[in-house]
Amino acid sequence: MNRVLADEIAKRLKQAVDKHGRASIAVSGGTTPISLYDQLSDAAVPWEHVWIVPSDERWVPTDSEASNEHMIHTHLLKNRAARAHFVSLKSEDESLTEEALQDIEGGLEKVPLPFDVVILGMGSDMHTASLFPNAQGVDRALDLTNQAHVASVYAPGAEGSSSRITLTLSALLASRFIVLLIQGDKKATALRKALATESAMVAPISGILRQGSVQVEVFWAP
Ligand code: 6PG
Repeated sequence: MNRVLADEIAKRLKQAVDKHGRASIAVSGGTTPISLYDQLSDAAVPWEHVWIVPSDERWVPTDSEASNEHMIHTHLLKNRAARAHFVSLKSEDESLTEEALQDIEGGLEKVPLPFDVVILGMGSDMHTASLFPNAQGVDRALDLTNQAHVASVYAPGAEGSSSRITLTLSALLASRFIVLLIQGDKKATALRKALATESAMVAPISGILRQGSVQVEVFWAP
């Protein structure tokens, strides 16, 4: 599955560079995409014209094992993909203040949008990126009239860090192709539940699944 997916993503990035001179991809953190990133890192893509942005980040130092940036550096920004441009969603600030958020928003101006590819994961609680059900700040992050690309979310108990920064739903939907990559029975059950749930506050992934403007493909393995 990861080989097929890596080929599809590489093809789309190559086509985007041929057509527009540049390409961009938003990539999820977590553990599920590790093997995909290892394979994608060696794909024959003109990576020097590709911008890579995490879909979300845990507010921890970037050399911490819990950091999504750390995982992306270890598994994707190597081999041929080491030449890509990486835009971090983490600053040196101790906490995720409004000022830090604005700085990161400014840093995203250089990313060519819409994203050619967005890779998302999902938790069994139906969160995606750092859009956690009923979390503090998630209403703003899900609000499609909010044109900001990033938002801060506080989700007590979330893996790695409760303090999160995430691409907003409108930024994630400013894309040409979205991949939802999930594994295991629990996530298949969560996906079915999300497809039947209208409220994105309850099932944030439904904001991605229940829309008519961007092609979404779900890749699932047992
Ligand atoms: C994060 C994520 C998050 C992740 C899911 C799935 O920082 O936690 O980016 O949205 O994709 O939680 O995580 P796993 O792949 O580890 O199950």
